[in-house]
Amino acid sequence: MSLKSTPKRIPVTAPVETRDALGRPLHDLRISLLDQCNFRCPYCMPEAEFHADYEFLRKQQRLTYDEILRVARVAAGLGVSKIRLTGGEPLLDRNLADLVVGLASLPGVDDLALTTNGMLLAPLAEKLAEAGLHRVTISLDSLDEDVFSVMSGGRGDLQRVLAGLDAAERAGLSPIKINVVVERGMNDHTVMDLLDYFRGSGHIVRLIEYMDVGNRNGWRMEQVVPSRELLQQVGRRWPVRRIDQNYPGEVARRYEYIDGQGEIGFISSVTEPFCGGCSRARLSADGVLYTCLFASHGTDLREAIRNGADEKELTDILSRIWLQRADRYSELRSPELAEAHMQRKVEMYRIGG
Ligand code: GTP
Ligand code: 5AD
Ligand code: SF4
Ligand code: SF4
Repeated sequence: MSLKSTPKRIPVTAPVETRDALGRPLHDLRISLLDQCNFRCPYCMPEAEFHADYEFLRKQQRLTYDEILRVARVAAGLGVSKIRLTGGEPLLDRNLADLVVGLASLPGVDDLALTTNGMLLAPLAEKLAEAGLHRVTISLDSLDEDVFSVMSGGRGDLQRVLAGLDAAERAGLSPIKINVVVERGMNDHTVMDLLDYFRGSGHIVRLIEYMDVGNRNGWRMEQVVPSRELLQQVGRRWPVRRIDQNYPGEVARRYEYIDGQGEIGFISSVTEPFCGGCSRARLSADGVLYTCLFASHGTDLREAIRNGADEKELTDILSRIWLQRADRYSELRSPELAEAHMQRKVEMYRIGG
């Protein structure tokens, strides 16, 4: 082609910004790949319920990669720029890198992340990075071997998780975030040690208030350690200051250590809900789209896809769901609402948090 010729115009279809009934855009899609996990964290999949003969989704019930990509493409067309892969434990899906390749090439997706418990990460980190994954978030509730063991349901191996973290760092899957669910009387006494360990590492620890998700963890308000309390505790040892959010609707409130040793985040869904900026849709492994972590029902996209819905029809379905959305469970949280939702909420391990 001659340098003087007029460049051919490539039609760019800008995503249509779809806003829900409360004016919130759709920016994040969280995709749960499977409902199984190699851990049994008591706050998510208590062993007593998820025993050897518990029936998880069968392969044919789960969306195929092609089906997931169709939903993700439609979501990107409606404004989704961030995709997070979750589970259960997404790394139990051994072909995951193939899906990552497809998702990474979707136009408009500029943040592709994965949440994992880290056990299987070490041998996979490099491959996932090469496939186009941008970053990982590792769930790690304590560095105390005994506490970690209890909080992973006796199935976690702390050294393997730390090896996974190192491998992710070497593969450039950063910034790496460490999610810590803080539960009073369980791991709250180990939080400061964990922060100390990661200060100066470049990894971002986020302290999460234990939430009343799902119906099986027997959540009680007394088990929640309010972020305010933790912030005071942290500030007494290492002064911190608030920093701006990375993007509108970010769930964590960000702080940095004044001595330059890095960042720490607080996710305070119970005591300081953030529904006002909630731009997240969640797709379960069997293709149900949920518009809230605490939803009691969602929309079955798998049926539509397997009945032959094309991209335009899927776009109509998704935008209709989003336009009608008015969820704000955490802001409305009350004993009455909790009671009304009792036994009906979607389980955390099915939509990956
Ligand atoms: P970044 O993209 O790194 O900002 O993280 P993220 O917003 O995708 O958060 P992540 O998946 O690491 O979740 C951290 C914690 O926040 C988990 O306990 C989630 O369940 C919780 N969380 C994430 N999104 C929501 C939400 O929309 N509502 C509530 N209530 N909690 C959420
Ligand atoms: N409360 C708060 N966070 C939870 N997670 C799982 N269950 C709960 C709960 N009941 C966290 C996991 C993971 C993230 C996706 O959700 O530890 O880091
Ligand atoms: Fe598995 Fe994560 Fe649930 Fe723990 S919190 S059981 S690691 S899905
Ligand atoms: Fe979003 Fe529901 Fe969480 Fe509120 S409670 S932030 S609406 S997922």
